[in-house]
Amino acid sequence: MLRIESLSRSFGGVAALEALDLAIADGEVVGLIGPNGSGKTTLFNVITGVHPPDAGRILLRDEDITRSTPTRIVHHGIARTFQNLRIYKRMSVRENVWVAQHSLPGVGPLELLSNRSMAERARREEIDRLLDAVGLADRRDLLAGGLPLPDQRRLELARALVRSPALLLLDEPAGGMTPAETAEMAVLIRDFALPGRTCIVIEHKLDLISALCQRLCVLNFGRKIADGAPDEVLQQAEVLEAYLGRDATHA
Ligand SMILES: Nc1ncnc2c1ncn2[C@@H]1O[C@H](COP(=O)(O)OP(=O)(O)OP(=O)(O)O)[C@@H](O)[C@H]1O
Ligand SMILES: [Mg+2]
Repeated sequence: MLRIESLSRSFGGVAALEALDLAIADGEVVGLIGPNGSGKTTLFNVITGVHPPDAGRILLRDEDITRSTPTRIVHHGIARTFQNLRIYKRMSVRENVWVAQHSLPGVGPLELLSNRSMAERARREEIDRLLDAVGLADRRDLLAGGLPLPDQRRLELARALVRSPALLLLDEPAGGMTPAETAEMAVLIRDFALPGRTCIVIEHKLDLISALCQRLCVLNFGRKIADGAPDEVLQQAEVLEAYLGRDATHA
């Protein structure tokens, strides 16, 4: 489904990604972990066309999508959520999903003016269905900025799913949540967001990762240092060192 070949990207003198190789099969759910600044978000930014890579290739179903614009990436069926939420705080919950839906390619200005069109009615139903599924049906008319953080993250998930993406990139979907809120988010992602999709989840919370992912990939200083079954990866000395410092493995 997705093949990343020797991908590199630097910022100034900092190598955020260095010769990264990663292949993900159709339907696979891969957890991406690594210390702060190890290049996780940069990988999403390069895949989605926010930052062009310095070198390397990205193939989606054997099609080269390296250096595609963010709009083209949406066309290819890739959607993401953001570590720092990108919802519109002064719009209502439902308007936030509406905007995500209408920024889709293929929705022309004439259709936007004609609120009564069949297509528009179908889209309204889709918004209601999505908000219902993420548990925000009763908050649809509230301002998004006033929602508690877990609800804002649910809204962000709904916005990403409006595109029915084949490949979903989740950047710390439970960031800032309590353990109980994280557990709820894990169930929502597992039961609603993942079926029928391929997914990369960035997350520091290992309970969420282990609830969702069959495979774990670890970055450190922009390089992949481990890739495999979560149980095995989390026992590797280099992974423990990266997370806990060199002494931890000798303790
Ligand atoms: N737009 C940018 N401009 C300059 N430096 C950047 C930019 N984006 C990322 N970096 C640098 O690249 C490195 C990797 O950052 P990145 O955000 O990908 O890390 P991360 O693994 O997502 O970390 P975290 O767990 O803190 O979110 C860091 O050193 C960061 O400062
Ligand atoms: Mg990040």
